[in-house]
Amino acid sequence: MSDTRSDDAALEHRLEQMLEIDSFPPPEAFRERALWSDPAIYEEAAADPVAWWTARAKELLDWDVEPSEGLDDSDPPFYRWFADGRVNASAQCLDRHVAAGLGDRVAYHWRGEEGERRDVTYAELLDSTQRFANALRALGVGKGDVVGIYLPMIPEVAVAMLACARIGAIHNVVFGGFSAESVRERMEFSQARALVTVDGARRKGRTAPVKRQVDEHLGDLPALETIVVVRATGVECPMTAGRDVFYEEVCAAADPDCPAEPMEAEHPLFILYTSGSTAKPKGILHTTGGYLTGVTTTHRYVFDLRPETDVWWCAADVGWITGHSYIVYGPLSNGATSVMWEGAPDHPHQGIWWEIVQDHGVSILYAAPTAIRTFIRWGAEIPGRYDLTSLRLLGSVGEPINPKAWLWYHEVIGGGRCPILDTWWQTETGAIMITPLPGITATKPGSATTPFPGIAADVVEERSGEPVAEGQGLLVLERPWPSMLRTLYKEDERFLETYFSRFGRGRYLVGDAARRDADGHLWVIGRIDDVVNVSGHRLSTAEVESAIVAHEKVAEAAVIGQSDPDTGQAICAFVTLTGDTEPSEELEAAVREEVATRIGKFARPKRIVWAEDLPKTRSGKIMRRLLRDIAEGRALGDVTTLRDPGVMAELEAQIAAEGEGED
Ligand code: PRX
Repeated sequence: MSDTRSDDAALEHRLEQMLEIDSFPPPEAFRERALWSDPAIYEEAAADPVAWWTARAKELLDWDVEPSEGLDDSDPPFYRWFADGRVNASAQCLDRHVAAGLGDRVAYHWRGEEGERRDVTYAELLDSTQRFANALRALGVGKGDVVGIYLPMIPEVAVAMLACARIGAIHNVVFGGFSAESVRERMEFSQARALVTVDGARRKGRTAPVKRQVDEHLGDLPALETIVVVRATGVECPMTAGRDVFYEEVCAAADPDCPAEPMEAEHPLFILYTSGSTAKPKGILHTTGGYLTGVTTTHRYVFDLRPETDVWWCAADVGWITGHSYIVYGPLSNGATSVMWEGAPDHPHQGIWWEIVQDHGVSILYAAPTAIRTFIRWGAEIPGRYDLTSLRLLGSVGEPINPKAWLWYHEVIGGGRCPILDTWWQTETGAIMITPLPGITATKPGSATTPFPGIAADVVEERSGEPVAEGQGLLVLERPWPSMLRTLYKEDERFLETYFSRFGRGRYLVGDAARRDADGHLWVIGRIDDVVNVSGHRLSTAEVESAIVAHEKVAEAAVIGQSDPDTGQAICAFVTLTGDTEPSEELEAAVREEVATRIGKFARPKRIVWAEDLPKTRSGKIMRRLLRDIAEGRALGDVTTLRDPGVMAELEAQIAAEGEGED
């Protein structure tokens, strides 16, 4: 038996030494075979980005009507791409592969929490999609209607999305980790006509009664005419006659043929709510032709994809943009075979990811740094028990990856041979924007390196907007790209205000700070707004604050993101209580529970600091900067603008007492 502790120490030592290496060129063997290995691609795209993207749209999609023009920029920033083209997203993802004789190819190797395996082929996915599309129509859903989808990681989630796309309904997927109350809000804002959900969802051996919770929170929404329930677990679930139907039953009764309707390229494909600076989530709207072009191109060329031989695994959840773009639309449009994993990384055991890689011969893995940091904590010995030699490429997404985690991923999971792709993008961008290309870019641990061909990213000075040649500033995208959001659903003004008010309509304000190094490579630092990134999950501090103050004993709350070795950032809440309420452990649990009910368990504060008062300016604005300083144990910044400087001394005493309590 090997000595695990000395193995760990040796690995630690090796990684420490590797921190000195500042660049990892593509392995020669990889470069020789790569789809793209000539850096001239960047100049080619930059010379005429619209023509370049149009060429990708024609190369990778089969249009019903080919577009005659690329970009319509007559009304910036309300851009239109390929506007006179027609294409159906579900036909791109399914019909064309089946027509090409690939119907028996596995679209998803689905793995269930309790060890179930289900292979879903392209032909099966097409059949289910057609039936469900017809079923939705029979239930009164038509082109332009919004359909909510609140499902766990089961193949039906892809079917539901594609069925909507087939008939031009706009899907609005809500991550399964959000509470039913959050689903309600998202259905209400989007005036959803139907909701597709499950009887229950499994998580680590337990089953949550999803349909019952949905009924409790959504029962009275006037626009919501239909709830379709997938029987996934068999758990008891209430059904309301006239409103609720079972997925299996409506599919069985449906006509199996549903020809795909060619959609205008700018027809809305989906809305996905994400967090911004205020408590109200933003409905990011993506349309058909440009979005498909963006995800199909990046999935193919960032990951050097060979659909015939690769096994692709994006270990995100379908409920986030990463899942939309790289579990559903990108991989299916490219005809890839993917793994879809229902469960958590530690159920039934901490080696389950690596068992899945081994079982299915996964060749490309795309995961979040939080997951990698968790595996580091569990030890290299666990993945060491599995054969991971099928892996040839590793991706990272969702948050900055610290160099140590990058190197561990490279060495322990990738065996030193797999290029690491740190990909930066957002719900708004639809597809990857800043990334290495595996056959071209020399990577640097911690840097997403350079913009994808056809994308222009810049780091600019905060006030003047002047480009920063080397150093830190705000990240912006300089020109439109096909998969960009078109607006915030039914909120054009907010769209303009959020992204195009600071530097004008020609420049998209990302909301992240970044640094450009001497080689021109980009290092994304983190958000500049009140958005917190917990385990790659995007949350607004205002959203969490309003959930906390909903508790009857809470007078006021201020939430900040605190750096955390495991989750990147963690939620820290400063809470003042009403009247003479005394803090207690029960109250702390109740406050956390309030957040779980209103948003979801993943948004619960990791740390609650009871405060007599919060630091405010004379005009009453909470000074979060000071709260961040105090939470991180830093020297306090300028306190002269505080209305009552004594507040900080009290908070410092409170934090000191908290520290003593831990000892
Ligand atoms: O702050 C950036 C961070 O995640 C934000 C976007 O979050 P969301 O819309 O939920 O999409 C996440 C998945 C694409 C960004 O504004 N982010 C995303 N990828 C990276 C990242 N930060 C650093 N490095 C990345 N690779």
